[in-house]
Amino acid sequence: MEEYDRRQKLKEFYLEIKDCTKCELSKTRNRFVFGGGSAYAKIMLVGEAPGKNEDLQGLPFVGQAGKILDELLDSIGLVRSEVFIANVLKCRPPGNRDPRIEEIEACKGYLFKQIEIIDPKLICTMGKYSTQLLLNTNKGITGLRGKVYKVNNRIIMPINHPAAVLYSPSKMEVLRQDFQKINKIVESGEETDGYREDILSLEAESEENKGEQLGLF
Ligand code: URA
Repeated sequence: MEEYDRRQKLKEFYLEIKDCTKCELSKTRNRFVFGGGSAYAKIMLVGEAPGKNEDLQGLPFVGQAGKILDELLDSIGLVRSEVFIANVLKCRPPGNRDPRIEEIEACKGYLFKQIEIIDPKLICTMGKYSTQLLLNTNKGITGLRGKVYKVNNRIIMPINHPAAVLYSPSKMEVLRQDFQKINKIVESGEETDGYREDILSLEAESEENKGEQLGLF
């Protein structure tokens, strides 16, 4: 897809969905937060859902977690306009509560379409919700972060959510280390085997778990 087409497509998609009323969050939101950055970014970062500041400004990661994200991007020589930042949910859950299954179900197609249009080389899923959605797993972020997966021919690297640093400052160092991998992955041609761990291994593990659980009865 030509760059112009991609930007145009993304804009058209925004106009198509910005007044969404598919779930209850549309009743309490101030602004729909589509996401932001370059339509032809090689790196996409996906968070959880807009918070208070994002809901007021209509932009992703503009609060405290956003400052941390900017610092991490800066540590590898990137600025926001070179990546695309989005969320699993486009509208703020009241009081910043966790996203609900039905909200994720209603909204996930928007993220999938954004990924299809932007066609990034690498998607960094930030935190549990985007990681579980894009890796199609129930596993926790702790065991997945910093590893690199290939799903539908796309490279996905789960990392901690930047907001985790606000509660646990030692997570900043872990995030810094994971960010260091980003450029290496993007610069590696098609050859990602050095980082690659096939999603099938996740599926195999969950099959094993199922087996174990069934064995209990
Ligand atoms: N946290 C998120 O997950 N997304 C935002 O946009 C802001 C904070």
